[in-house]
Amino acid sequence: MKQHLILIGYMGSGKSTLGCAVSYPLQQCLIDTDKWIEQKEGMTVSEIFAVHGEAYFRQKETECLETMLLEKEPRVLALGGGTPLLEENRRLMKQLGFTVYLQAQAETIYDRLKEDTTRPLLQCDNPRAKIEQMIGERDPIYRQAADYILQVDDWDIKRLVRELQEAYRAVKNRNDGFCQPGGTFYSKTEEENEAAGDQRAQS
Ligand code: S3P
Repeated sequence: MKQHLILIGYMGSGKSTLGCAVSYPLQQCLIDTDKWIEQKEGMTVSEIFAVHGEAYFRQKETECLETMLLEKEPRVLALGGGTPLLEENRRLMKQLGFTVYLQAQAETIYDRLKEDTTRPLLQCDNPRAKIEQMIGERDPIYRQAADYILQVDDWDIKRLVRELQEAYRAVKNRNDGFCQPGGTFYSKTEEENEAAGDQRAQS
């Protein structure tokens, strides 16, 4: 199993920022899938959506994950908010490493993104309602895809980096894809972890 540290969560949950911060102590390069795609396509995410449409962008996300399977060194991967929505991508994520869901309330996200113009899906009349609706739809999927859930409403980056690092190191050392619930992590429930274990055993 590849041992990448994979960060997922809604737009504005801090995947890139926390990914960058944790990449230093872990000494693992950060790969931000949005940036990877932008570089490959020579366009911003907004331009890709406008010119080629969302479905095309989603294909590029899958291609990015497939390419990550070929990486020889463990990396920190900050995925786009929509990447885990495709079942194919969730299957790839299981092969790629340890997935942490950065979970935030809709209100927190709205506060962080209300001036943002770079997220095409939020350029609408009522971004607050859109955020609430999308988080409602996506939260169960993120939970299902995650090995661990980290609450990020309280943005104390030093604490978050430390906890992320500890959980990831524990799983890397044990090398079996899991780690014990502990610290102030909001771990999955025992039932959820068991179900995830069963799925892994079958895959
Ligand atoms: C998206 C999230 C964005 C980017 C695109 C679509 C989504 O990435 O991939 O705008 O569907 O949630 P971030 O989560 O890094 O903002």
